[in-house]
Amino acid sequence: MPWADAARPRPCPSLLAGDHAALGASARIAADAGAPWLHLDLMDGHFVPNLTFGPEVLAALRRAGLKTFFDTHLMLAEPHRYVEAFAQAGANLISIHIEPAYDHAATLARIRELGCQCGIVLNPGTPAEAVRALLPRVDLVLVMTVQPGFGGQPFRRDMLPKLRQIDAWRREGGLNFRLEVDGGVDLVTGRECRDAGADTFVAGTSFFKAADRAAFAAAVAGW
Ligand code: DX5
Ligand code: ZN
Repeated sequence: MPWADAARPRPCPSLLAGDHAALGASARIAADAGAPWLHLDLMDGHFVPNLTFGPEVLAALRRAGLKTFFDTHLMLAEPHRYVEAFAQAGANLISIHIEPAYDHAATLARIRELGCQCGIVLNPGTPAEAVRALLPRVDLVLVMTVQPGFGGQPFRRDMLPKLRQIDAWRREGGLNFRLEVDGGVDLVTGRECRDAGADTFVAGTSFFKAADRAAFAAAVAGW
């Protein structure tokens, strides 16, 4: 992936804020608004105190004809046990958290072997240093700007220095992973993240509540 493309800002609506009785329709709304990526939040009730959906939902969206890039965020205590299932279900990129104890490097390599891009995720309490050694092995770094588990939480502005640090390491190392933010991101807080080096913007509540979702997506893509 050339750097110029990697740096282009990308809106990424989160299906978590869609209508869970009509996930297909919500995913279609995001695609029709011009968002090339769809963010899918998978929660296991262990790593985070909430539950969402499983790989069958991704597979069903694919069967329904969704062509969007599936940016799959695994908030699971044992993500290594599920990467095959998500790859098979139609994920394009699979992100795993650094916090639980398992073989992170092997799991990232396995995700790529399965034909997907791979990402590493940090909770707000996790320092940037925790993922530094893995940076050459990933396609995306996701900096959580809320404690994961629920949509609609306020943006953590104290995460901006972490973004700047990871962006600096990216430049110094000549690396081209995407730098994504997730949680409380809207047109104001997202722009602050952009200035701190982020290029991929997960937006749940702010996207689905936007009066003009196409304008929202276009605004992010224009940053
Ligand atoms: C939070 C999830 C987010 C969530 C963000 O645990 O990882 O992707 O959808 O929602 P908003 O944009 O409403 O903060
Ligand atoms: Zn997420």
